[in-house]
Amino acid sequence: MNLILMGLPGAGKGTQAEKIVAKYGIPHISTGDMFRAAIKNGTELGLRAKAFMDEGNLVPDEVTIGIVRERLSKDDCENGFLLDGFPRTTAQASALEDILADLGRQLDHVLYVEVPKEDLFKRLTGRWICPDCGATYHELYNPPKVAGKCDKDGSELIQREDDKPETVGKRLEVNMEQTQPLVDFYEDKGYLRSLNGNKDINEVFEDIDGILKGSNQ
Ligand code: AP5
Repeated sequence: MNLILMGLPGAGKGTQAEKIVAKYGIPHISTGDMFRAAIKNGTELGLRAKAFMDEGNLVPDEVTIGIVRERLSKDDCENGFLLDGFPRTTAQASALEDILADLGRQLDHVLYVEVPKEDLFKRLTGRWICPDCGATYHELYNPPKVAGKCDKDGSELIQREDDKPETVGKRLEVNMEQTQPLVDFYEDKGYLRSLNGNKDINEVFEDIDGILKGSNQ
């Protein structure tokens, strides 16, 4: 199954991606996670990406497309993949068409999780993540069992640099500009499946699962 998970920052892409990959056993390819890992490891890619991410801007297309091309060529993507946060511009979407054509692959669905803008700010500024396993929590909507600790490995939870209120506004603005042209792009191609992301986390997953099992088609 070859999938794209789309949505504005905070729509719940990472949260739903965890559930999709657990059930369907396909690799989760998050460009945001790849950039954060590069920053943590102090690589050249990380140094380049950090300046854009800290400001709430997108990392330039040529950098982002390069890492996705390389990742999709790996053996573990042969039976499918879940792209999370890519493509984010129409240039990236066109490049993805070329990459998939080169690999002899086709998309199955583009899952577009929609949440009203006013809720996204609250979701992002209340998010806590595990620096070790990447699990995501929210102080109100999805709290860990023990405050400040990861349920899975007990690590101390942290907040993302780009979840500071002053950066969140800019991220939402930048991403909103780019999203509608992408929605139109995939709607025209017949891949787009829009979902109401403003529901309980498990209910959103049931809707996604319904699409993936073909029961909503
Ligand atoms: P990235 O890491 O992709 O971040 P993002 O798109 O801004 O999305 P988020 O991870 O912030 O949100 P999410 O939708 O995954 O929500 P989550 O599940 O965590 O990108 C970061 C940066 O990297 C970009 O700004 C850019 O600079 C760069 N970048 C990445 N990809 C790029 C690309 N293709 N091109 C250029 N640059 C790129 O949920 C959010 C919170 O809400 C959590 O606390 C969660 O617990 C809670 N929550 C989730 N679902 C629900 C629900 N149903 N109800 C209530 N709360 C919920």
